[in-house]
Amino acid sequence: HPSSQDADPSDVFRPDARAEPGTLKRDYRNYTAGPLLDRVYNTYLLMHTHQTVDFVLKKSMEYGACAQRRMSIMEALDLLDNVVDESDPDVDFPNSYHAYQTAEGIRQAHPDKDWFQLVGLLHDMGKILALSGEPQWAVVGDTFPVGCRVQKSVVFSDSTFRDNPDSKNPLYNTQYGIYQPHCGLANVLMSWGHDDGRAQAAPLTPFLLLQALYMIRFHSFYPWHTGGDYMHLCSEEDQRMLPWVKEFK
Ligand SMILES: [Fe+2]
Ligand SMILES: [Fe+2]
Repeated sequence: HPSSQDADPSDVFRPDARAEPGTLKRDYRNYTAGPLLDRVYNTYLLMHTHQTVDFVLKKSMEYGACAQRRMSIMEALDLLDNVVDESDPDVDFPNSYHAYQTAEGIRQAHPDKDWFQLVGLLHDMGKILALSGEPQWAVVGDTFPVGCRVQKSVVFSDSTFRDNPDSKNPLYNTQYGIYQPHCGLANVLMSWGHDDGRAQAAPLTPFLLLQALYMIRFHSFYPWHTGGDYMHLCSEEDQRMLPWVKEFK
């Protein structure tokens, strides 16, 4: 495997060069091959071992009051200069680039929707959690519901949950687990990470449309918006918002 460090930095930092229409797009999110795969797999192994109902509740308490630090949005975006996402098989540069690229991409596709462009800029701001001592497995990567059976489309699910204590708790391993049918994703405990509303969406809630909040809150929930799993937990509102989350992706 060529190391990602060997890549010409000017190529790495100029992702437009590889984003020509029709080229390479199909190669994104490849979890079976690629130079970053070991790092990606290890991040998911740790995530799927340690993300439990108890862990999610503990983190929600810890960050729920939004009392850790105060900063402006621009300060938070600048801090992303120091974050490289170790779960991402495609991106090996600081997340601040990704914020502006995403916003620019959305501006091209949706020039009339300034709120949507803003979502692009803000969606990964929660990754600054990685700078306050949180391990990458508690910040980045795809999310999944804890407290119920893990569904097929969760990446690496065949081999990464064996040492998760919740996998031995019968209460958490039926299709619905601790949830009611169609209870709504707002009532589901998601694995803790940068999507979490407490980490970033809550302070913005009064200013953003519902679809914007969904995009931020669930953009990493690939097993839902791309895998089509966990529909048995969704409310009608979740179903109505799903096309927006897909469009963001
Ligand atoms: Fe993200
Ligand atoms: Fe992102």
